[in-house]
Amino acid sequence: MIRDLILKNRSYRRFYQEVAIELETLRELVDLARLSASAANRQPLKYILSCDPQKNALIFPCLDWAAYLKDWPGPSEGERPSAYIIILGDTEVSQQFSCDHGIAAQSILLGTTEKSLGGCMIASIQKEELSKALSIPQRYEIMLVLALGKPKEKVVIDSVGADGDIKYWRDSEDVHHVPKRPLDDIIIG
Ligand SMILES: Cc1cc2nc3c(=O)[nH]c(=O)nc-3n(C[C@H](O)[C@H](O)[C@H](O)COP(=O)(O)O)c2cc1C
Repeated sequence: MIRDLILKNRSYRRFYQEVAIELETLRELVDLARLSASAANRQPLKYILSCDPQKNALIFPCLDWAAYLKDWPGPSEGERPSAYIIILGDTEVSQQFSCDHGIAAQSILLGTTEKSLGGCMIASIQKEELSKALSIPQRYEIMLVLALGKPKEKVVIDSVGADGDIKYWRDSEDVHHVPKRPLDDIIIG
């Protein structure tokens, strides 16, 4: 089951924007992060939730999408995320966030997938603009934004070919391909 969930948990970047996600759903997802591992159990992460169109519209312009897809500027109006979870590091709790935000993000996205929704971790963030747009106090460091919604695209996993190219790409049918390295290439001992 965990393999099926992980296989289904792809990075989705186009959504049915009109399919709303309730605030309570976002709270349930953050609860999965709350219950996840944290270095020295410091639990320094805090979260901002957004599922209303006006707040979403403040967040969207601060994000950069799919750097390898040079001709695609990101999801167009109508295909944008219907919710976001912003993962923050609270510097008053700790100066180090270790890999807590990655673990939190994966827990949230697995939960999202289980709910037949989908999302994408976004680290390419215009952090100053986002801080200003949402009036985020200085003590919080923006770590990741999770863009969430009902996926409107097909994503398939391929094997990295002999040329070693790991760049994701879209075919003529608009299917998004993600090359993954073979198992025997990554287990080195
Ligand atoms: C830490 C991290 C940061 C990422 N940042 C971005 C980003 O800024 N923009 C984006 O479109 N995708 C981002 N992604 C998504 C990756 O591009 C994606 O995970 C990768 O292409 C593999 O696809 P998959 O998640 O479907 O396996 C990020 C993923 C991770 C783990």
